[in-house]
Amino acid sequence: SPAVYGVSSDHGFLSPEPPLEVLPDPYYAKWEAIIENLQALLLSKRLRSMVDRLPVLSTTHLHTDAEWRRAYVVLVFMLHGYVWGGDRPVERIPPQLTVPLFGVCERLEVPPVATYAGVCLWNYKPIFPNEPADDLDNLACLQTFTGSLDEQWFYLVSVAIEARGGPSIPLVLQAITAARAGDNYTVTECLQQLAEILDEINALLQRMYENCDPYVFYHRIRPYLAGSKNMADAGLPKGLLYDDGRGDPEYRQYGGGSNAQSSLIQFFDIALGVEHRPTGVTRNQGSPPDANPKSRHSFIHEMRAYMPGPHRRFLEHVDSVANIRAFVQARQNDAALRLAYDACLAMLRALRDKHIQIVSRYIIVQSRARRGSQSQASVPTNLATAAPPDSKKLRGTGGTALIPFLKQARDETGEPAIDAW
Ligand code: HEM
Ligand code: ALA
Repeated sequence: SPAVYGVSSDHGFLSPEPPLEVLPDPYYAKWEAIIENLQALLLSKRLRSMVDRLPVLSTTHLHTDAEWRRAYVVLVFMLHGYVWGGDRPVERIPPQLTVPLFGVCERLEVPPVATYAGVCLWNYKPIFPNEPADDLDNLACLQTFTGSLDEQWFYLVSVAIEARGGPSIPLVLQAITAARAGDNYTVTECLQQLAEILDEINALLQRMYENCDPYVFYHRIRPYLAGSKNMADAGLPKGLLYDDGRGDPEYRQYGGGSNAQSSLIQFFDIALGVEHRPTGVTRNQGSPPDANPKSRHSFIHEMRAYMPGPHRRFLEHVDSVANIRAFVQARQNDAALRLAYDACLAMLRALRDKHIQIVSRYIIVQSRARRGSQSQASVPTNLATAAPPDSKKLRGTGGTALIPFLKQARDETGEPAIDAW
């Protein structure tokens, strides 16, 4: 049942109840006081000293799942503010952050870094609780680094996409059951509805331009989302030193927050039989296509380690029962079925096409724009400001080489299409 995987038709992969706005136990008041003033503390560069003066709080006062998730949100916003909220990144993370964060991450099965779950899935609220929670016009963010509408919008477009995608979960599961029973009609109907949902998700993605300004995104917001993997140019050659106060702290490296960690989009891939290879590996290269049909080594697959444990297991489960592509392939003379399936692939491919345009406007163009004025901006020096204008060296917050990676993922989306057989 989807419930054990923490997913539902109503909310998809979003937290099932609206996320907690504050940890209820006054024991955590000092965390909440910092997070309430995060923007002011970043602006005045006083966050680090505030965190350094915190006591090391334990996780024993966290009870419900919602409280554990809220603690994760609070801690990763403090963590990334701590690392990137100064003229240079800080390498050593103090026990005030690492000790509770390790506990929270073990419980939620997420890595100790700001993931998509922390900034999107568990970080929203409906403005009016009696209105639908999935409408972009009824959503607000609980936490941002900058306090800007642009940053809220950047996260909320994803929240709205996740919510709109929720109903696709029972739909796909129904299609899988119907395919097992040889029921062409039901599979066709489900795929038609899935194509509609994908179309609406495309429209939501396109709304990014309405309220998220590319300059603000690239120069003000994005630097805070950076990870600690391959970040030598940004001043973290070995990664971050997670000091838990017990001596011998270890360097660790994690990718930063990225929508590539969205379970929903990977769910679509799995449902439709889209397979992603490591970047640079073409279709007919290496092992024969069926020897290793589901690549375990692509970046997209690696991103599953950044999803909450139950969601990761849900994808593995769907992976193990996915049969729609083979079903359609075996019934190529059923024109309606073929059409519905191809429509889904075309929509998903269109989504990736639109996304590439966004990346080009929000990252590539911004990285080439006039660099003179940036030195005065009070933003962290990292992947935004340190990136050379040579786009070959640009990296996504998740760590990919941007366009080559994204174009390959888009092209792979079209590969299972019936027309291509
Ligand atoms: C991956 C940028 C919004 C879905 C990526 C990557 C970049 C990027 C650079 C490559 C992975 C990495 O290194 O991080 C952006 C920018 C956005 C944005 C600049 C908006 C300003 C979104 C939204 C979605 C999304 C709203 C929701 C559909 C994805 C997916 C991937 C990805 C699914 C993994 C690659 C794939 O499956 O094709 N994004 N993104 N992105 N993004 Fe976005
Ligand atoms: N993954 C997005 C980027 O690289 C946030 O900017």
